[in-house]
Amino acid sequence: MASRGGFSNRLGFIAAAAGSAVGLGNIWKFPYEVGENGGAAFLVIYLACAFLICLPIMLAETAIGRNTRLNPFGAFNKIGNRRWGLVGLLGVLSGIMILSFYNVVAGWAFGYFIQIGFGGLLSEGVNYGDYFGGFVSDITDNLLYSIGFMILTALIVAGGVQKGIERWTKILMPLLVVMIVGLISYGLTLDGAMDGLSFYLVPDFSEITANTFYTALAQAFFSLSLGMGALITYGSYVGKDDSIVGAAALITVADISIAFLAGLMIFPLVFSQPSIEANAGPGLVFVALPGIFETMGGIGPFIGASFFLLLCFAALTSTVSLLEVPVAFVTDQFKTNRKKTVYFVATFIFFVGLPTMLSQGASDFFTNFVYYGGEDKDFFTLIENVFSDLALPLGGFFIAIFAGWSWKNKGFQKELYFGNAALEGTFLEKMILFMVRFVSPFVVGAIFIISVLQIFFNISLF
Ligand code: PHE
Repeated sequence: MASRGGFSNRLGFIAAAAGSAVGLGNIWKFPYEVGENGGAAFLVIYLACAFLICLPIMLAETAIGRNTRLNPFGAFNKIGNRRWGLVGLLGVLSGIMILSFYNVVAGWAFGYFIQIGFGGLLSEGVNYGDYFGGFVSDITDNLLYSIGFMILTALIVAGGVQKGIERWTKILMPLLVVMIVGLISYGLTLDGAMDGLSFYLVPDFSEITANTFYTALAQAFFSLSLGMGALITYGSYVGKDDSIVGAAALITVADISIAFLAGLMIFPLVFSQPSIEANAGPGLVFVALPGIFETMGGIGPFIGASFFLLLCFAALTSTVSLLEVPVAFVTDQFKTNRKKTVYFVATFIFFVGLPTMLSQGASDFFTNFVYYGGEDKDFFTLIENVFSDLALPLGGFFIAIFAGWSWKNKGFQKELYFGNAALEGTFLEKMILFMVRFVSPFVVGAIFIISVLQIFFNISLF
């Protein structure tokens, strides 16, 4: 296994998996989804999805990965059969497609770092909403930033997993948390902060629709890097004497806490700026934050640039895990040279992302790409809907069914006992099995059906 590398110790795996989990999903996607889906009611459902449905699936993924020490396709083929291999393939494909758009958004964050730090973006009279619209439709800038980001990702993955990510995450994630907490404290002093807090923390359950459920579930999968085998691939680096249960619980708590803090940060800032609506969509953090940095005076550009730089690092530890999945697939299955594979796959995914980049106003064709669910959708939305909102929960559904029902000779339980022998026969073990067998598949399956009807046919069941 030497060529696959390994993490230095248990904390190494936790740091890397948390690095994969914490990223744009927490700080860019989660807040705008809360904003679009009625605030606190969404938060409540999201928390339930993360802990009750996704955490058991995380155990299953990690266990499959450690047991087989292979990429998702190879793993399912080894302990399942050829048909299960298809679930692995779906995961590899999802990884490719998610990275293709994730890299574009990471490019936006990178661009904001440059523009705030060195381009004088924070100046009086700038309308940050208009600026964002212009920024995402400017193809030259976007190309540069996203090429830069993909190159960084590829360099880290080519350097080997453990060297690359562990170090970054251990230093930079705490710094990101400090930055967010600092901004929360600042935000709470602003006019309107309390309205923001009550939007985020006081649930109005009349806001709940079918939309709320599937968005929350899909977001929990996305944020925890679940359903496509990222943690099968990372699980292959966990030692046999480490407890998977403890690690998964820690990773979930860390990831969800950072998303929660991001919400605490953003909503007071949004509500303190009358020109910004909570349901502004994907531009929310890019529109709400610069206005606040501007109010900080001389130190604003420094704080703003540091924020977006830290966000870039968080995104980088996620893009690394996304790239690792197809790279591990190709090197495991076709015995190719790892470095060459990394550069080839990264280049390929970069090109797959071009239509997404063009779909934010630069090209009419990709901006109004398809019609479904009652309106024209851009290419980005299509890829997000199919490969993140649908494919991740679907992958998670099959992973739970596999671990709970199909993995022979109690393979799943036995894998959990390694590094955690005391688990055998406990209530916790029974709980885990019950969740993996019944709760996760049933709930995910039901929500999946609701999602398809809603997203593609605009049929709302409630
Ligand atoms: N969890 C990452 C984030 O929240 C995104 C991701 C999804 C990474 C799936 C890997 C796999 O930013």
